Amino acid sequence: MLMIRRKIVFIALTVSVMFACGGRQKAENDIEVKIDGLLSNMTLQEKIGQMNQLTGLGLSADMIHNVKNGRVGSILNELDPKTINELQRIAVEESRLGIPLIFARDVIHGFKTIFPIPLGQAATWNPQIVENGARVAATEATAVGIRWTFAPMIDVTRDPRWGRIAESCGEDPYLTAVMGAAMIKGFQGNDLADPGSMAACAKHFAGYGASESGKDYNTTWIPELQLREVYLPSFEKAVEAGAATFMCSFNDINGVPSSGNAYLNKTILRDEWHFDGVLVSDWGSIEQMISHGVAADLKQAADLAANAAVDMDMMGFAYINHLEALVQEGNVSESAIDRAVRDILRLKFRLGLFDNPYVEIREEMPFYTAEALAKAKQAAVESAVLLKNKDGLLPLGEGIKSVAVVGPLSDAPGDQVGTWCFDAEFEHSVTPLTAIRDAYGENIGINAEQGLTYSRDKNELGIEKAVTAARKSDVVLFFAGEEAVLSGEARCRADIRLPGAQTEMLKALKKTGKPIVLVIMSGRPLAIGEETEDADAVLLAFHGGTMAGPALADLIFGKAVPSGKLPVTIPKMAGQIPVYYAHKNTGRPGRNVSLIDDIPVGAAQTSLGFTGYHLDAGNDPLFPFGYGLSYTDFDYSEVRLSQNALSTGQTLTVECTVTNTGKYDADEAVQLYIRDRVASLARPVRELKGFQKIYLKAGESQTVTFTLTEDDLAYWHADMVKRAERGEFQVWISTDSQSGTPATFVYN
Ligand code: NOJ
Repeated sequence: MLMIRRKIVFIALTVSVMFACGGRQKAENDIEVKIDGLLSNMTLQEKIGQMNQLTGLGLSADMIHNVKNGRVGSILNELDPKTINELQRIAVEESRLGIPLIFARDVIHGFKTIFPIPLGQAATWNPQIVENGARVAATEATAVGIRWTFAPMIDVTRDPRWGRIAESCGEDPYLTAVMGAAMIKGFQGNDLADPGSMAACAKHFAGYGASESGKDYNTTWIPELQLREVYLPSFEKAVEAGAATFMCSFNDINGVPSSGNAYLNKTILRDEWHFDGVLVSDWGSIEQMISHGVAADLKQAADLAANAAVDMDMMGFAYINHLEALVQEGNVSESAIDRAVRDILRLKFRLGLFDNPYVEIREEMPFYTAEALAKAKQAAVESAVLLKNKDGLLPLGEGIKSVAVVGPLSDAPGDQVGTWCFDAEFEHSVTPLTAIRDAYGENIGINAEQGLTYSRDKNELGIEKAVTAARKSDVVLFFAGEEAVLSGEARCRADIRLPGAQTEMLKALKKTGKPIVLVIMSGRPLAIGEETEDADAVLLAFHGGTMAGPALADLIFGKAVPSGKLPVTIPKMAGQIPVYYAHKNTGRPGRNVSLIDDIPVGAAQTSLGFTGYHLDAGNDPLFPFGYGLSYTDFDYSEVRLSQNALSTGQTLTVECTVTNTGKYDADEAVQLYIRDRVASLARPVRELKGFQKIYLKAGESQTVTFTLTEDDLAYWHADMVKRAERGEFQVWISTDSQSGTPATFVYN
């Protein structure tokens, strides 16, 4: 009976899924028919107008003229719902064909309620947290009429000098792909046509994170194998996750700027991955092909971009000024224009803009709701990575009667939100000082003294004041880091140490003999080797957003337990860059390092050993990818395999038992890595293939299970085919990218 009932339920489910799929397919077919109808009615100028994206100018005469005459398809950075509706009314009622506009904005890690910077969100190793953040952003931004966000940024980067590392999910293709997909899901919701959903934009396609020397917009030289292995997987996953749009990157790859790169935009994105959404240029990136030196003028730039299947020109004025002539002269085919316009109209249909073009004008905006703030706080809690905790200083115990709250980030509402927060209202940021005062001010003494008032400050008097505050306190809480403006677009640094006199301030504080908790609030991993030595506990909190303060207060006083893990390797010094866990072993892996000061004077060249390392930095980073401590301890059992061999079409189950052996209930991000031992191309020493964040009460154990298939073992070969090679593999389940003992299996 039970079996029959199960079967009926199964059949009913299958039928409803088939109907849903069938329904979706029909809706998509209907859209194509409607687009056919529209396209057949559009003049060439109207088509080109759809391909033009302009920045908001309110209700200026110019903008009204452009909208009325069908000379603009999308507007970015217009934020007033009434203006949005009026422009939309002009498009729908007064333009010849009534095609609605799409309003776009960079809603990167929050609109009003700001979540941690994306790098911090990646440190949660919790895709649900990331999805929640994007959903909150969508709810808030769509309330003013924004239906298209330029996020997620899923550029893999291995260079903390690059300011845009803040906007990234770090160094790993797999982690970036998973987090990017979670953001897309959050922004787009279950139905793009829901007025509360925003089209996501996977950016920047592609290779931008490899900008030479970590300098923004710089050239990149990326062999196709590396492109496919490191920089493209997150974008392929974004297509699978249904990203409605993509954005070109500013950089050139091997001499070809992305906005003119037909191989990337047509062969890979459209032909291989079957992307049918909109590809927008970056701001002026079509026009910038003149500066790159591949186009003589704006007309040639338009020609290159249109022939490289870039659908929309963001603030480049190349298409609107030159496409018509290019078509008439036969350099750009009308079918290329139709394909681009089809993509744009498809997006507008998918967003439901033809049926529902206006934003509801509300009395009360759904900003900073209790639910949004709680989610932002949880994200900030889970993004913080505990790097050091000498003698279990953290969490602070009941014996602590007073704390000094010092440092430039202790009360900096505008800086804690981080980069790309144009719409944040800083009065809503709760700083660490405010949060600690609110939660603990009645029971413990709080000696607040920023000392340095901004991160680049070098004021010695300020340091003296902070030292005085420290002397009066049991513990020093030093909130250090970077101002928001030191990371993000065009905010690159060659020196990635703490700016200003923060290191000197730490040394002065250390002389007081008081225990020091160093909290780093920054847009990038900073080279904090010296500071890690000097401090007793170190918590890397990134720029944690609106609720960074309450989250840090909870972590410091033990209401929450750190569970963040590094999404990026922290170098000892900038000279180690690029330094990342998934490196190749080389023929002479770095071992037996003699550091520069250990080398005897007059030592013979041959006495040091010939292995790969830096004399002044050794071979290891300061902290490896995946690393992060907890207040509790986790024990990992041996890795168990379902069998010792994996054959084509089979799966291999890999598991281990994780036990919380400490005193605190806590979360742990359990990581799965593999290594292909012998392959026709040298393979990384480890590659992340899975992770699970689990919650264990003190004393509790859990079996954590992963499955591996042939796909997980496959890599790109010189013939541009991805396949697995037969032979021996190692597999780890571990707490970070450097620890653990591997098990071995054979792929046969
Ligand atoms: C330039 C940035 O590179 C891109 O990420 C952003 O979306 C656009 N400007 C629009 O603001």
